[in-house]
Amino acid sequence: MLAGRHILLIISGGIAAYKSLELIRRLQDKGARVTPVLTKSGAEFVTPLSVSALAGTPVHQELFDLTSEAEMGHIQLSRSADLLVVAPVTADLMAKMAQGLANDLASTLLLATDTPVMLAPAMNVRMWEHPATQRNIAILKEDGVSFVGPNDGSMACGEFGPGRMAEPDEILTAITAKLSDGPLKGKRILVTSGPTHEPIDPVRYIANRSSGAQGAAVARALRDSGAEVVFITGPAAVRPPEGVQVVAVESAREMEAAVQAALPADAGIFAAAVADWRVASASDRKLKKSKDGLPVLEFAENPDILKAVARMTKDRPKLVVGFAAETNDVVENATAKRKRKGCDWIVANDVSPATGIMGGSENAVVLISDDGAEEWPRMGKDDVARKLAARIAVALAG
Ligand code: CTP
Repeated sequence: MLAGRHILLIISGGIAAYKSLELIRRLQDKGARVTPVLTKSGAEFVTPLSVSALAGTPVHQELFDLTSEAEMGHIQLSRSADLLVVAPVTADLMAKMAQGLANDLASTLLLATDTPVMLAPAMNVRMWEHPATQRNIAILKEDGVSFVGPNDGSMACGEFGPGRMAEPDEILTAITAKLSDGPLKGKRILVTSGPTHEPIDPVRYIANRSSGAQGAAVARALRDSGAEVVFITGPAAVRPPEGVQVVAVESAREMEAAVQAALPADAGIFAAAVADWRVASASDRKLKKSKDGLPVLEFAENPDILKAVARMTKDRPKLVVGFAAETNDVVENATAKRKRKGCDWIVANDVSPATGIMGGSENAVVLISDDGAEEWPRMGKDDVARKLAARIAVALAG
């Protein structure tokens, strides 16, 4: 899948550097050529010898190395690759990148390059959460740098939280997606997925049974077709796919804000089961049993995220797709819903318990568009997603 592709892999300092040795092998297994660069701090964690031996080519370490300069200048080195991957990237190197500093080989390559850059951060959770790091990440994202991870988990320093470097498999998937030449290459697509949680008080919430499986499958299929995917997910039962930008939200209002922040996009796919109502009187303290009787919950209507995007007058995505979960008169209800919401397509399905679709691995959908209702045979959720991604590619190409 990566045959003929050339990856410049920069390994900076961090205990996670050992995982990058595995990454080299995985990239090569897929046919990629890897040119390694090791920073001074990276060399504290893995040896130049092991990196060179695995890559099958000498590792670059110094900015002013006469032999390397004679063979290939650092400018050329930075531009000969299809992708620059920094794994792990430290908080320090990200800060340098955000500021445009170039005082060693890695930072100079990153400043001199005009090829895409992908970062796999690894650091202590406090360092990751520090406003300075988050500010630098925002700058780098603005500059078009893509990120994979970090993951939540326990870290070598004994703390728990975000900061663990993504696994080699995850980085490989992200790289493959980034270098994919699929029909959706260059298209930015946002996907909402999963349920939303609407708080009653700080410990209780109202939710629904959506597992997020169909939304995740759609995001994966779009990614595999080469799209840049922003995956906005409520608290779902399934893990988000690798190689997409994940925005985790809880409530409908958070989801709406995330969708607005992710625009503009070429297409918006709204697979989330958004709660129609929230508790208007949500308490900021835990409700206690009281002798005054049962609490009364008052509801307020949530924003209709799909409708708001479908009815945008400026910068509306070219294609807006809604989902409809119905239990009866599927085509009739979904056709009316498409009109009411103003979206281009509705993917409708029958979620009556007898169908086993909600929470199951299969789906039977009807695609409602300008051309009427098209019934798809019952198939796996992944197959539905792939078929839908192919249709989206046709629609965006036209
Ligand atoms: N949706 C949304 N924001 C909401 C509610 C729904 O974006 N607040 C989106 C869903 O992601 C889905 C579509 O709208 O793509 C269908 O949602 P649904 O809840 O079925 O539609 P309703 O308007 O609530 O219709 P009904 O209650 O009659 O089924």
